[in-house]
Amino acid sequence: MRERIIKGNPDDGPEPVEPEATEGLSSRQPRPHDPVEDKLRPQRLAEVVGQRAVAERLSIALLAARMRGEPLPHILFDGPPGLGKTTFATVLHNELGVELSITSGAALDKKMDVMPYLTNAAEGSILFIDEIHRLPRAVEEFIYPVMEDFRVDVVLGEGMSARTINLPLKKFTIIGATTRSGMLSGPLRERFHMHEHLEFYDREDLATIITVNAEKLRTKISLEAAWELAGRCRGTPRIANARLRWVRDFALARADGVVTPSIARDALDMQEIDAEGLDKQDRRYLDTLIRVFHGGPTGVEALAATMNVAVDTLRDEVEPYLLRREFVVRTPRGRQACALAYRHLGLSEPEPELPISIVDIQRRLFD
Ligand SMILES: Nc1ncnc2c1ncn2[C@@H]1O[C@H](COP(=O)(O)OP(=O)(O)OP(=O)(O)O)[C@@H](O)[C@H]1O
Ligand SMILES: [Mg+2]
Repeated sequence: MRERIIKGNPDDGPEPVEPEATEGLSSRQPRPHDPVEDKLRPQRLAEVVGQRAVAERLSIALLAARMRGEPLPHILFDGPPGLGKTTFATVLHNELGVELSITSGAALDKKMDVMPYLTNAAEGSILFIDEIHRLPRAVEEFIYPVMEDFRVDVVLGEGMSARTINLPLKKFTIIGATTRSGMLSGPLRERFHMHEHLEFYDREDLATIITVNAEKLRTKISLEAAWELAGRCRGTPRIANARLRWVRDFALARADGVVTPSIARDALDMQEIDAEGLDKQDRRYLDTLIRVFHGGPTGVEALAATMNVAVDTLRDEVEPYLLRREFVVRTPRGRQACALAYRHLGLSEPEPELPISIVDIQRRLFD
């Protein structure tokens, strides 16, 4: 079968420009295309490290689709940035050798924006919709019949003379990716046959990713150095790759190009990445929560405003790892710092407030 990756509107040619607001306080910015990241991205399922349960379920879906000669079921990937959502979509496309079109929820403003993707989709091809939670409701509703019956309903005319035309489509697969599955409407979520949640990676898997990618970058790295780096990349392959590239440059500039544990430590220290892998922004978040808001609970909007950072940046990029590691917890009244956060910043935890006893109340009443 033909193998083709189409980015952006297949009719328009050029890549879609996400209509993102530019002020820092509004929203998650689109990531610029990074050719080195593409080079490091696993191409086949066997090259994917970690996420074993997800990979196993996908291999079953792949096998079944091949055996039945049918397209893959619609799949939704969710999880924090940099954990492999786009990677899994590209891997599935490579495994099947089918066409892949890539777009983003933010680029599909109107029904007519999504139309060319649907009508041009070849039998068995994959349409990857990144940031699918940003699809406007009208567009979302427009693709319900696509996902269910491979059909679009187009309304022609207005008022009394309006009529609906049902346009049959080829059978293809929609793969959605989101960092915010909670923002997806129930009906859209239910139309995906497989829901795969990607979790942070453990240290062993990250050390493997670092070793494999060091080889792709023709960099010598000792096992101990890979282990050191793996413990300091926030459980995230994309961060592991970025830090590996920095450590590689540091080793070249300051030593003989070989990454040893002490080179890795010095390089990361220079970038102000601490022993837990937290960066300046993470520490500023914890520091603001503890010093300004007395450890919370406080709302993420208040934290974002005080830090002068976009709320989405905190929600999507900063908080998931801090929550996972239990530096903070989310309570119904907002974010609250945990003991680990105080310890990490070298601060002492406030004494817990003791409940007022009956004797205290009586004493206060009669004083
Ligand atoms: N399981 C994995 N094994 C090896 N490398 C991986 C894996 N997952 C991700 N990576 C690496 O991390 C990089 C980032 O992953 P990817 O772009 O798939 O993240 P994402 O979940 O789509 O993030 P975003 O939400 O920001 O779009 C990839 O280029 C790849 O090099
Ligand atoms: Mg992605």
